Amino acid sequence: MSPSSAYRVAVLGGDGIGPEVTAAALEVVAAAGVSLDTTFYDVGAARYLRDGFVLDDATLDELRGFDAILLGAVGPAIGDTRIPGGVLERGLLLRMRFGLDLFINYRPFVGVAGSLAEGCAFAIVRENTEGPYAGEGGLLRKGTPHEIATQGSVNTRFGVERCVRYGFERARAHPKKKLTLVHKTNVLTFAGDLWSRVMSEVAAEFPDVTTDYQHVDAACIYLVEDPTRYGVIVTDNLFGDILSDLAGAVTGGIGYAASANLNPARTGPSLFEPVHGAAHDIAGQGKANPLAAISSAALMLEHLGEKTSSERVARAVADFDGNVGELGTAGVTKSVLERL
Ligand code: NAD
Ligand code: IPM
Ligand code: MN
Repeated sequence: MSPSSAYRVAVLGGDGIGPEVTAAALEVVAAAGVSLDTTFYDVGAARYLRDGFVLDDATLDELRGFDAILLGAVGPAIGDTRIPGGVLERGLLLRMRFGLDLFINYRPFVGVAGSLAEGCAFAIVRENTEGPYAGEGGLLRKGTPHEIATQGSVNTRFGVERCVRYGFERARAHPKKKLTLVHKTNVLTFAGDLWSRVMSEVAAEFPDVTTDYQHVDAACIYLVEDPTRYGVIVTDNLFGDILSDLAGAVTGGIGYAASANLNPARTGPSLFEPVHGAAHDIAGQGKANPLAAISSAALMLEHLGEKTSSERVARAVADFDGNVGELGTAGVTKSVLERL
């Protein structure tokens, strides 16, 4: 692609290690020969503390005009009480997921050498706009001995069905051709009933895909003890969040785990980001593993239709066999650039 027809990408480096790993990802995309016309947005904890800015309507609307959004990570350090929980997570990250209707959070995992899941390749398809994340609930009589906190979970047939169908499509393209629904149908009987029925109904359209069901607690055992049993996992927003960190840990570490927040209908941009957070504990020290951010950029290239470049970057990441701890962010990035 010539620079004049470069993809327009909004870059939100964010907080902590976010800007460090995002810079590495951009370097790799450039080396893969794809031209990006980038616009940088200063958002996150630091910006909020300075200006009180999270994300306004005008900026969200501006983001709709891009071909893709690349995000590092946002959020304050754990224990930093200057920013109440959720101000950035809900006000910025979830606002983009909901506002841009990024209803799929696709998280592929490949077990690196020496990890519990060495040689395994599976993916989590996480519903990304509903469940407990919808924010239904509230506090009543706050601060009194009789206060009540409720936090609901929203599961619409429309939302569940489009997520499950996407799960089947990804499963069909996976060598195992297997889709596992993970839920908690033994306790969350209303949402579980809807998810199970939708799973059975949509399965009829995909006779070539084998289906399976696991309760989420058991899935935590199997992910650690026998990750070979998975092709694609489809699950609700909160279970998908928790299982992704576990999947990251068993496949080599959270520093490898990439994600794509997708609007598969392509009525607007999709957002690509590592699964990990701002990791303030290692920020500014050159220690962060940039591979999750680089792989997220590869998912972005795939979504933009740059299949060859995306595969080249993914292969360069897969071929990386160095020690992240010894090499640090710069060394790992250099190694990936050499393999390209
Ligand atoms: P975290 O993912 O930031 O860190 C958890 C642990 O993993 C830490 O020990 C950290 O050092 C390590 N880690 C994370 N990424 C790494 C990398 N690339 N290389 C090496 N080690 C890495 O999770 P947390 O501590 O719970 O959250 C910190 C902040 O980030 C919070 O404000 C949280 O809300 C936010 N957060 C943001 C996102 C996002 O923007 N998508 C995702 C998760 C958490
Ligand atoms: C993730 C993160 C987010 C989530 C937070 C930061 C809102 O943990 O992308 O996995 O819970 O979805
Ligand atoms: Mn998470």
